Amino acid sequence: MNDMSTPEWWRSAVIYQIYPRSFADSDGDGMGDLGGVIEHLDHLVALGVDAIWLSPFYPSPQNDAGYDVADYCDVDPRFGTLGQFDTLVERAHASGLRVIVDIVPNHTSSEHPWFREAVEAGPGSPERARYIVRDEPVNDWKSVFGGPAWSRMSDFGADDDQWFLHLFDATQPDLDWINEEVRAEFRRILGFWLRRGVDGFRVDVAHGLVKDLTGSDDHASSMLGANVDAETKRPMWDQDGVHEIYRTWHHVLGSYDGDRMMVAEAWVLDPARVALYVRPDEFHQTFNFQFLSARWDAKVLREVIYDTMDATLAVGAPMTWVLSNHDVIRHATRLALPPGQERRNGLGPDHPQPDANVGLRRARAATLLMLGLPGSAYLYQGEELGLPEHTMLPADVRQDPTFHRTGGEELGRDGCRVPLPWEADQPGFGFGPTGRTWLPQPASFAAHAADVQKERADSTLNMYRSALAIRRELDLGNGALEWLEMRDGVLAFRNGDTTVIANTGDDPVPLPDEIEVLIASGEVSADIPADTTVWMSRSAV
Ligand code: GLC
Ligand code: MG
Repeated sequence: MNDMSTPEWWRSAVIYQIYPRSFADSDGDGMGDLGGVIEHLDHLVALGVDAIWLSPFYPSPQNDAGYDVADYCDVDPRFGTLGQFDTLVERAHASGLRVIVDIVPNHTSSEHPWFREAVEAGPGSPERARYIVRDEPVNDWKSVFGGPAWSRMSDFGADDDQWFLHLFDATQPDLDWINEEVRAEFRRILGFWLRRGVDGFRVDVAHGLVKDLTGSDDHASSMLGANVDAETKRPMWDQDGVHEIYRTWHHVLGSYDGDRMMVAEAWVLDPARVALYVRPDEFHQTFNFQFLSARWDAKVLREVIYDTMDATLAVGAPMTWVLSNHDVIRHATRLALPPGQERRNGLGPDHPQPDANVGLRRARAATLLMLGLPGSAYLYQGEELGLPEHTMLPADVRQDPTFHRTGGEELGRDGCRVPLPWEADQPGFGFGPTGRTWLPQPASFAAHAADVQKERADSTLNMYRSALAIRRELDLGNGALEWLEMRDGVLAFRNGDTTVIANTGDDPVPLPDEIEVLIASGEVSADIPADTTVWMSRSAV
């Protein structure tokens, strides 16, 4: 069991993301819920992670799968009750698992009482001042989900002509973070969950809270701070003003006992800008989206690791690593895509499908590379089963607003959110007691089911379990990295006494002599084949 008294536990933690609606269903409605999480805690304990992060389970109309929050201090009846949440925290803690929850401060749901009040109260009211409301759109911005970023208050029942800003769906109005009442309310919300015993927060769209409304930008569908070209700074993302907010939050967390932490979802790639989020008085961590976006290529990966060191070590923050989450193409599919085609558009039923075997080999190899690095790592539910993206979902079952707001031009994120397969022989692959699932699962999930993989020594699930056990035993999370020079296509480093070699090239690489293989992502004999990572220790011979 994890030692829950480790100070600054998050520095080396492996944190498992639970997307509650797709993890496990306990009441048979086809939608995962907190009861399902409680029932499957043993899976996470056996896996050997340190903490879980729960994506939103708050009351919500579910227009953006819960990232549209109508009440920040309760549990949606679809997901359970506050009492179940307390049970979950208690059981998780008793099993040595920390719990972090998602906080969504950029916008509320249009069904949040604040927005209802803003609609009723009319122009110039303090109720409207909590949102970004203007007499007309004051810029040309597009929503990340497609379409314009401004909608009329009258679409939501107001009888005046004002407009409001929404960086995402129209049912997700952006809060105005200049407003002191908004700031105070979120400090209160953090306190509510901290008192219930959570160990930290994942902060949604952390780089978006403060905007420069005077800036022009009509690039849709991207949350990257500077993606137009390396220099262009976008007026809705990564403004300097966000940092002051997080310094007060850091203070709030510090006023509770235990080591509470927060991690930023900030789509910022420039190491110098990333470093600002993880100053000692701000976030404890930020997701490493540069690593997540990297191709399976030793040179690219090495540069990313250098940049990560630049962004974190100088300010004393831990490096973090992440390959998948509920927004991106599952890496068992993504890593098999040709360079430059890492978007979902080319992945639908009408397109040639990437090679699933190559994808799985690379996913396993990338995982061992990630878990061999010092720092903290994030896993997304189902990756331990080697799940691919579901690319064949028909249009009429798709639910993601990005699909609907772009008229199907963007396929959307449903393909990485398909309910998990627990038992190969059960209806719905054992997702819940009735076999219902809110999205259809592909037949290929049978081979990925957790019960089948438990029994197979070479399964992806058992590779994750072994890797996490070795990582813990050798304390790789707290290690230091020392590069080893290898030929092109090979990434190699030492982490303490452990050597990690990833072969991203096409040719086999000879296995160095006199070392004992601790674990490998594929079969190794005298050679490390292509798309394989090995961990080795200097043997005692
Ligand atoms: C974050 C979430 C994503 C959500 C968006 C708007 O990027 O990860 O799922 O749609 O914020 O809240
Ligand atoms: Mg349910």
